[in-house]
Amino acid sequence: MNGSVCVPGDKSISHRAAIIAALATGVSEISNFSTSKDCAATLSCLEQLGVVVERKGSVLRIHGRGAGGLRKSHLPLDCCNSGSTMRMLAGVLAGQNFVSTLTGDDSLNGRPMGRIIKPLTHMGAHIGSRDGCGPLLIEGRSPLTAIRYELPIASAQVKSCVLLAGLNAVGRTEVIDLSGIHTRDHTERMFEWFGIEIENGSQSSGAGSTIVDGPASFSGRDVQVPGDFSSGAYLIAAAAMMAGSALRIENLGLNPTRTQFLDLLMSSGAAIQVAELHDESNEPRGTVSIQTTGLANTHLEVSGSLVAPLIDELPLLAVVGSQFGGVTVRDARELRIKESDRISATVTNLRAMGAEVEEYEDGLAVIGPVKLRGTTIQSFGDHRIAMAFTVAALVAQGDSEILGSDCVDVSFPGFFDVIESIVER
Ligand code: S3P
Repeated sequence: MNGSVCVPGDKSISHRAAIIAALATGVSEISNFSTSKDCAATLSCLEQLGVVVERKGSVLRIHGRGAGGLRKSHLPLDCCNSGSTMRMLAGVLAGQNFVSTLTGDDSLNGRPMGRIIKPLTHMGAHIGSRDGCGPLLIEGRSPLTAIRYELPIASAQVKSCVLLAGLNAVGRTEVIDLSGIHTRDHTERMFEWFGIEIENGSQSSGAGSTIVDGPASFSGRDVQVPGDFSSGAYLIAAAAMMAGSALRIENLGLNPTRTQFLDLLMSSGAAIQVAELHDESNEPRGTVSIQTTGLANTHLEVSGSLVAPLIDELPLLAVVGSQFGGVTVRDARELRIKESDRISATVTNLRAMGAEVEEYEDGLAVIGPVKLRGTTIQSFGDHRIAMAFTVAALVAQGDSEILGSDCVDVSFPGFFDVIESIVER
């Protein structure tokens, strides 16, 4: 792999920028907005709620509706495949004086929503669901009641849902992460960028907490979105494993709550340099250069507090581990309830390629190094599985066919074109 590339704007940051801009007064211009289907779903839900969005390529102008300015949508809001859209919009809609329905595709409507229904109900909203899953019928209440909420799972989506609801609650909404695990902090950073005051507390137990005072009103602000680290991770991994690679990824998001994958590769001996590290719109970014070097053949272990910061990269890490000293992942039950059961999908595909893999209820263990062989890969309609196994296919012997590969558009439209443009034959 040779060349210099950019990846689409960060999906997590784009969702938050669009939602917070919609709640602000005035216009916000968002540059390098994610081209993903997930973020398109967030935008079209916001439009249904009365928000005007002007699009000029990857630059958006969002005309905020201000506090209490959203309008009831008579049609269900379709979050498509996007858990972030459903969970974060639920937080916003819980504090509106109207009824909304949030729905999604079969995968999303099968994912657990009890984790957001519980705190939002405590805050005063009524939420109907199908056994704790979507579609969600949200009877909002304005204002909500502020709560102090201890997160039962390390989830940035749940944390963000409660903080967004807190913008429309009277008093101090506090979200406490008892585990002390720092999940991605894009919501907190975006609040600060829009001038919404938050307090970050840490308790003597090691737990962290975030407090927001409501009801909050704030003005629009321009946002520059960095490239999505989780998308760049596929290219970084491929370059680390394919002989003779020298790849540069420019303007890549380098928020420390997202870059554990990079840290792990670097500590295993990968030749990676980070340059031009700087903040824009309160988010760190920089240029990442990577050359192929053999990684140390040590067995990688991921468990406990390492899981949440690596959550989206774990299928890819299993592929990388198969080419070096193997990898064991535990405490990662959450992977079973992502866009697909990512433990089962990763095990199935690695075994089909000839790897020896053990499956646990909360993880997997891959023995490495192994020469993977090309085969038919099942994406299970899950973008991260399709991309992780495209990387596996690149280092495998023989051809692979990836079924349902167009699901990559959920986060990284143009993924295969980018790969084609940098892989030398
Ligand atoms: C996300 C948080 C993570 C991640 C998802 C995006 C976010 O989910 O898997 O792809 O933008 O907050 P959880 O917070 O549910 O672990």
